[in-house]
Amino acid sequence: MLPFISYIGKYQNAHYMKTTYLGHSCILMETKGKSILFDPFISGNPLAGHIDINEIKPDYILISHAHQDHVLDVEAIASNSGAKIISNYEIFSYYNEKGFDGHPLNHGGKANFDFGTVKYVNAIHSSVFPDGSYGGNPGGFVIWNEECSIYFAGDTALSMDMKLIPMLCPALDLAILPIGDNFTMDHREALLAAEFVKCDQILACHFDTFGPIEVNNKEEVINLFEQKGKTLHLPSIGDKIEW
Ligand code: NI
Ligand code: MN
Repeated sequence: MLPFISYIGKYQNAHYMKTTYLGHSCILMETKGKSILFDPFISGNPLAGHIDINEIKPDYILISHAHQDHVLDVEAIASNSGAKIISNYEIFSYYNEKGFDGHPLNHGGKANFDFGTVKYVNAIHSSVFPDGSYGGNPGGFVIWNEECSIYFAGDTALSMDMKLIPMLCPALDLAILPIGDNFTMDHREALLAAEFVKCDQILACHFDTFGPIEVNNKEEVINLFEQKGKTLHLPSIGDKIEW
């Protein structure tokens, strides 16, 4: 049961942005009365057994890349909700051929939606669907409207390209960064990423789900960010934060 569903639409005109952490890299963002779901991987996440995907009815699903731990629940949630899929051209086309609606982007491009502007930005990673279909090149998203500006990095290494984000997009209120190492950057590099994108509020993702990305020294990790004047939020699954 996810009680936040009842809030959607209620704050249509308030200056307000909320995130709900649904495990791994799956985050539900609410802004301007719309709900935007990133990288749905819930039913396959052993840590997220208490989250019912049937309760999640976003207006949009944003997909950073085609790996299973980012797309597993896309079809179920999009079927249930009619959510539009926003991703790179190849991922959009993959779902469009299955009858799902949405919008394709490619790196460096942006488009306007009823909840704000979405820009697809570089990530250093790989991207292939579980069935072997080509998933294009992986990316991240910067999303902004008159109320907030956020960066969802997706799975990525630390990259110099992140320095372009503050030059091209409004000042960030929040950066959602992977910290788990092994498949992405670790927390030390995520701290550098936070400096590159000039953001002080960081929501961590892509940690603890599998053995190789477990973060055991959480207090140390949080302190490291604190020493640089940044706040790292290491959410538990289900945590809601208003920004
Ligand atoms: Ni990946
Ligand atoms: Mn991943």
